[in-house]
Amino acid sequence: MNVLLVGSGGREDAIARKIRETDTLYSVITNENPSIMGLSRGVMKYTIDSQKIVDFAQKNKIDIAFIGPDGVLETDLVDRLLENHIPVASPTQKAARIETSKEYMRNLMKKYRIRGDIENTLITNREDLEKFFRENNGEYAIKPIGLTGGKGVKVMGLQINGTAEAVAYASGILEKDGRVLLEKREIGEEFSIQAFTDGTHIAFMPVVQDYKRLYEDDLGPNTGGMGSISDQNFILPFISIDTVNEARDILKMIVDAMKMDGNPFKGIIYGQFMDTARGVKVIEVNARFADPEGINVLTLLKSNLVDIFLDIYSGTLKDNIKFINKATVLKYIVPPGYGIKPEESELTIKDGIESDNFKLYYSSVSGTMNMVKTSKSRALALIGIGNSIYEASDIVEDKLQYIKGDYYIRHDIGTEQMLKRKIKG
Ligand code: GLY
Repeated sequence: MNVLLVGSGGREDAIARKIRETDTLYSVITNENPSIMGLSRGVMKYTIDSQKIVDFAQKNKIDIAFIGPDGVLETDLVDRLLENHIPVASPTQKAARIETSKEYMRNLMKKYRIRGDIENTLITNREDLEKFFRENNGEYAIKPIGLTGGKGVKVMGLQINGTAEAVAYASGILEKDGRVLLEKREIGEEFSIQAFTDGTHIAFMPVVQDYKRLYEDDLGPNTGGMGSISDQNFILPFISIDTVNEARDILKMIVDAMKMDGNPFKGIIYGQFMDTARGVKVIEVNARFADPEGINVLTLLKSNLVDIFLDIYSGTLKDNIKFINKATVLKYIVPPGYGIKPEESELTIKDGIESDNFKLYYSSVSGTMNMVKTSKSRALALIGIGNSIYEASDIVEDKLQYIKGDYYIRHDIGTEQMLKRKIKG
């Protein structure tokens, strides 16, 4: 099969390696990712002009296409590929609205009375915004409706102190976008559930937890994600199976609701949930593999990814997808100053870093496999595979000796100390 992959971050490197286990890869890239380029038979630079990507797909007789990043799912690319009879295992522009419009997501949950919704208000003018904060006490998450790269949501009591700051931040979004979403702040442990779906059938992947905050001990600003963990039994030691099953049911209800709504979703659906004292709450729904969490599950995937893509496209997805029963810990190496005042740097990687229990994925970098130039975004994803989360974390720490240069990494992700604190609650 000739498979087209759009995207060139760490998540796409993990997808590319799975594709290349069995099939031929053609890639559309934004940065000259040395790993993806090395795996690809043909490469083109990403353009917003979807017709050029359709031409590339036709020229290379693509059998199935897959889109990695949310920013591309927001464009008309999937629709244009489908119109040109190129099979795609990603959602249409309209179905991707489950991620690209939080207004659509909340309205869908309300309309179909899906459990796990959070009390929310959409504000479209300054007067209503001021009235809202005059009449409502308590803390809110302030969210732009559209994509934010994980960095646009601010929560009162975390990144925002007091009502005046909340009004100022929400006003800025209102001025720019004409609308802002205010969601009641929920408190609890967050976790991610990703699933393959063909619009009718759904197959769940192992549960993963993402570490979004920049600094150790979950302090500092939110980032695209500094790392992520999964356990060998596919749930997490601090999240109960009942909670996981409830979140899975909610994700299935969302897929069913989209079908009933005449907007079926095909591809990877990813729910970010919170385990609160008042039950499982939906924080976000996304239309793609998570990054980093997608890398954890793709590293464990035993089944053939291209066959799954074909089943998603043709509506024949089966719930028999297999993963390796191991724990994983991923830690992202990022450039110095990342998330605040990033500076590009160069990293050297010694040969022999990869082993059966360790993989290195290349993200927003260019250069060669042994010497990369970073951008201002995440650079290298290091993932350890162990019999326990602690062991997987230690594997990553041990492999750092192979990487030299100026960088920042959160060492605390997956350590015994962190896990014990979470299990105690
Ligand atoms: N894990 C954050 C994201 O993929 O949006």
